[in-house]
Amino acid sequence: MGNNESTPNNYSKTLKQISNGKDNNPLFKYKDDRKFLKKADMYYFLPIDELESDRMQLRHDVEWHVWRTNFSSPIETTLKLGGAQVLDVACGSGLWALEMASDYPLSEFVGVDVAPIFPSDVMPSNVTFKQCDVLERLPFSDCSFYYIHIKDLFQYFPSKIIRDQLFPDLVRILKPGGWIEIQDRDPNMINAGPICKRLEDMLSLSFLNRGIHVKNHYDDMEKLFEKNNLIKYRSDKKSIPYADLDLAIQDFLSTYKAMKFTLTEYSGVTAEEFEEIVENASKELIPSNSEFVSRKYFGQKPMIYDI
Ligand SMILES: C[S@@+](CC[C@H](N)C(=O)[O-])C[C@H]1O[C@@H](n2cnc3c(N)ncnc32)[C@H](O)[C@@H]1O
Repeated sequence: MGNNESTPNNYSKTLKQISNGKDNNPLFKYKDDRKFLKKADMYYFLPIDELESDRMQLRHDVEWHVWRTNFSSPIETTLKLGGAQVLDVACGSGLWALEMASDYPLSEFVGVDVAPIFPSDVMPSNVTFKQCDVLERLPFSDCSFYYIHIKDLFQYFPSKIIRDQLFPDLVRILKPGGWIEIQDRDPNMINAGPICKRLEDMLSLSFLNRGIHVKNHYDDMEKLFEKNNLIKYRSDKKSIPYADLDLAIQDFLSTYKAMKFTLTEYSGVTAEEFEEIVENASKELIPSNSEFVSRKYFGQKPMIYDI
């Protein structure tokens, strides 16, 4: 299946193996019925359980509707020819890597995530998953990958960590001539109604309490690519009215619900009130003509690379 063809994913069953059951694993903690990573609590605040896996799948499907492709960098010919190594950073439930592996059977795909929520059984032979924390030095040698893909991760980390640590390490393991691509949802929508605006303010506050200024990430992205000596930088942005895509409204609801504990933490709003706010906010999306915004940034490591 090529870059621009529709790819309905077939992996939902494989992904159902993620357990919601409480266990004594010291990696996790529980709030009510949701499972979270203890270690990543400082920045990353979404749950990691079966419901979250469903949410990731929904988000993945919505992003597919937006872009109609799993990547924008000019890498298709190389992936088709085969032998290319591809890394999906913070792969989550592994959907992207699984779809890409079946689209490009002659290339090799590796997904890494701090939470072992990727599939561990039936998989195409050209995919592997590995548990690792991207806030530590990545366990790959220099120049290992032709293409590095990062979807829905940067917004959770402070700019300083991205700038000084994560991005340079990603560039280190990228091959000269290879491409790096970041895809993130903008936390702010276009034409937010008053209830949506309130939720966005709660989200901004929560990010700020973790030292994260998401807007700065986007404003600084070109500089980040430049500073790391990457070339052919491009960014792209698409906005889609919620009215055009019912799935996007479901995605809105499930994403805010997944953030319930984090967003109520500093707000004085109870969990029940929060759920009601989210339901009411979702009803505002169509009358307010609200649109969500998805962004991409990509660039290439030159053949002769010298930092
Ligand atoms: C919003 S999900 C996106 C998952 C996937 N990229 C997708 O688009 O479906 C973010 C992922 O980042 C992972 N993550 C958070 N902090 C991490 C870290 N320090 N190292 C590796 N993965 C991390 C989470 O476990 C989660 O699976």
